[in-house]
This record gives sequence, C-alpha cells and structure tokens, in this order.
Amino acid sequence: MKVGVLTGGGDAPGLNAAIRAIVKKCEKFGYEVIGIKYGWAGLLELNTMTLKYDEIKGIIHKGGTMIKTSRTNPLKMKDGVKKVSQNFKKLGLDALIAIGGDDTLSVAAALSESGLNVVGVPKTIDYDVPETEFTIGFDTAVNLAMRTIENLQDTAESHDRVFVVEIMGRHAGWIALYSGLAAGADLILIPEEPFNIKDVVNFVKKKTSNKESQAVIIVVAEGALIKDYEGPVTKDANVDQFGHVRLGGIGEFLAKEIEKATGSETRAAVPAHTIRGGPPTAMDRLIPTRYGLAAVDLIKQGKFGHMVALQAGEIVTVHLSKVTGKTKTVSKQLYEEAKIFFE
Ligand code: F6P
Repeated sequence: MKVGVLTGGGDAPGLNAAIRAIVKKCEKFGYEVIGIKYGWAGLLELNTMTLKYDEIKGIIHKGGTMIKTSRTNPLKMKDGVKKVSQNFKKLGLDALIAIGGDDTLSVAAALSESGLNVVGVPKTIDYDVPETEFTIGFDTAVNLAMRTIENLQDTAESHDRVFVVEIMGRHAGWIALYSGLAAGADLILIPEEPFNIKDVVNFVKKKTSNKESQAVIIVVAEGALIKDYEGPVTKDANVDQFGHVRLGGIGEFLAKEIEKATGSETRAAVPAHTIRGGPPTAMDRLIPTRYGLAAVDLIKQGKFGHMVALQAGEIVTVHLSKVTGKTKTVSKQLYEEAKIFFE
C-alpha cells in the first residue's frame, strides 16, 4: 500500500505533528508514505518526497509544513482533475490524505467523487471548517494573538493610546473573538457582525472620557465588514485560484477614522502572519497527532471520502460532503454573550 499526504492552503502550526503521526502509523501497517509537495501543485507536477519516520520524527515542535503548501486549485484548471487522477496512478498511490481547510477539502471531496481514494484532515487557523471542534493551527494562533494584544495593552495603558489590532480571519471572526476575549480587549469586531464607524467612534469617546485611563484596545478581524461599505477592506483586487482576495488594511483604516473623529492618539497594529507560525501549542501537537493516526485508520478501513474530526473530545469521521462549501461562523448567541465586555 502506498499513501500520499499533502498540505494545502495557508500553513499552520501542527501540520508537522499530523504528518509525523501519519508516517508513524503507516509504517506500523507496513505502508509506504510519500509527501506530495506544495499541496495540489505537487500532484499536478509530480513533485514528491519520501517520508520515513526515523528521518522526520523530530518535527513535532516545528511550525509550518515540511512538505510545503500552496493555494493551487486543480478544479480551476483545464483538465486539472484528469491530470491529478493520472498522476495519482502514475505515482502508484492507493490513497491520499489531504490536510487543509475548506478549499483543500473541497478539492478532496471532488476527487473522491471522481473515484480517487482520498481522506481529509481539517486544518485552518481560521477555525471555520464545520462539523469539528478542532482545526489544526487555531489554538496556536489564538494564543499568539492573545499575547500580542496583551503586549499592546501595556503600551496603550502607559501612553493612554487607542490601539486597533487587526487579526487574521477571512470569513469568520473566531481568532479575533477568542484572542480578544482572552486578552481582555475592550471591543471586538468580526465579519459576522457588520459595524458602523460612528458606533466605534462613540465607543472610543466614552472609554477615553475615563480620567484614570484612556487606553482602549479594539480587536478587528481582517474580514470584518463596515456597514454601508461594499465588502471587506482589501490590499488589492487580485484573487487567488480559490477566488479569495488578499485582505488587510481595516486596522489602519479604522485607526485613522477614530483618530480623526476623537482626537485620541490611535495606532494600528497588524500581527498578520506572526500568529500563523512558530512552535505549536500542546493541543496543536496532540490533536493533529490523533488526526494523523485516525486518518491512516480510515485508509485501512477503506472509508474514503471522509474527514477526521473532533466532536465532544472524541475523534470521529464526517463525510466530506457535509463539510465543504460551508463556513463555520461565530453564532449571534456567542457574540451577544461576549458583548458584556464591550460596554
Ligand atoms: O486561511 C488562513 C489565513 O491565514 C487567513 O486568515 C488569511 O486571510 C489568509 O490565510 C492569508 O493567506 P496568505 O498567507 O496566502 O496571504
């Protein structure tokens, strides 16, 4: 049996832990494993590497992905699926483990429907894959974002400044909400709850009227939406192969608007990719390890077209069709619950 493994989309801490576990379990079953480099691009271009446990076992604490990644989408290419299928056979693969977020998993689902033996593992710092309580990289990203916000709090308090911290999160505000709450932010703005600039300005005015401290920390997800504006703030109009624009700039934009309207010194801070790298947290080593082991079990059972997931602390499997094309967003109820801290 020959098993391929690939990582697609943005890198995330914990990917190496999953790869390591996959290799370990495959070797236990006597399966050969190859890494498909740069995600789906590696299958289109036959770019692979051999993976042997003794050679890679020391990667559990490392961020990124040792088999590289890309945002290549074979579904968007002429004969992309055909080429992937042909190369699947050329490589002599019996099964493929695709580790990624919605984009990667939707390709996995399409390939599975076309008859290839594919299983999925959920990864994204954005945490927006449905049917699972854990996506690889989210826990580390939340912890790193929380620390950054905390650090800014010191400066905000010492200088009586307003900070707007722009945190990754394209369609869902999970990282912003969780890290902001954990760090004690004053206001958190997420894509699920479009906001008025006027309300934010009034909020800052109220906060800075406090004689003791005029420090204010606002956390804004990069994909947050301003009411009466068309779409999120973007870097440019270019889109990747999955149709995503490059987000970024809402922090700077909001900081300027606040300073203009309130006169309070307001700075934007953009941690950007610094929350997507570095050593994974313990959870981002343990669950990806369990995911990796479970993914190989799925292959052994011949349960293709499924994704491993975490539900109520247990590793379960979910059909890929239940996961793809959907985004797990922050519920109204959860945001309402958090609002008590935004007064
Ligand atoms: O998909 C995860 C993510 O980190 C998003 O939060 C962010 O919008 C995007 O990737 C950035 O992607 P890239 O590193 O390709 O610019």
